[in-house]
Amino acid sequence: MSKSIKILGIAGSLRKASYNRGALRAAQDVAGPDAAIEIFDLDGIPVFNQDAEQPAPEPVSRFKTRIREADAILICTPEYNYSIPGVLKNAIDWASRPYGDSAWDGKPVAIMGASPGALGTARAQYHLRQCFIFLNMRALSRPEVMIADASDKFDEQGSLVDQETRDRIGKLVSALVAWTRQLQK
Ligand code: FNR
Repeated sequence: MSKSIKILGIAGSLRKASYNRGALRAAQDVAGPDAAIEIFDLDGIPVFNQDAEQPAPEPVSRFKTRIREADAILICTPEYNYSIPGVLKNAIDWASRPYGDSAWDGKPVAIMGASPGALGTARAQYHLRQCFIFLNMRALSRPEVMIADASDKFDEQGSLVDQETRDRIGKLVSALVAWTRQLQK
């Protein structure tokens, strides 16, 4: 049996009962034995300042190490003002620096997102894909997981209770595992 794929899950929200953190926990629940998902909490990553790049603040170094140790990345993000939340973009920027030492380079990545709105973070997800082009990340195209009407699908603690959505997340994790294995060949 081939070894399991190590996936680092990152949520673009710090909210305690966040739908997006909840969707990552659901990904952990539904992942098969071929995927091991750990969640990195962005709480504690400082606001980016290019003057402070070297040496990087300790939480940033830890974040970059965790990215490098992972075979693949799974980002679950809210949409803020039709785009990526600052907390996520800030973390992406930190881990891409200093120039020539990006932790993202070549990493397979999948995206999902949850919103109480009707479009389920679609606009934020496409902005994120644009960042992946410069970062040279290998973005999985399908399946797209855009969780609309999230208030009907998560409970008050932010746990995903909608079975159809849990199944879709399972398919995304399986596709990310297959994509990562293909790129590792
Ligand atoms: C939002 N929200 C939001 N939702 C959306 O679908 N499109 C959007 O453009 C925005 N814009 C936006 C801006 C800001 C500053 C906030 C705080 C919120 C609502 C957002 O989807 C909602 O708060 C989610 O619950 C955030 O995700 P978490 O924290 O539950 O993971």
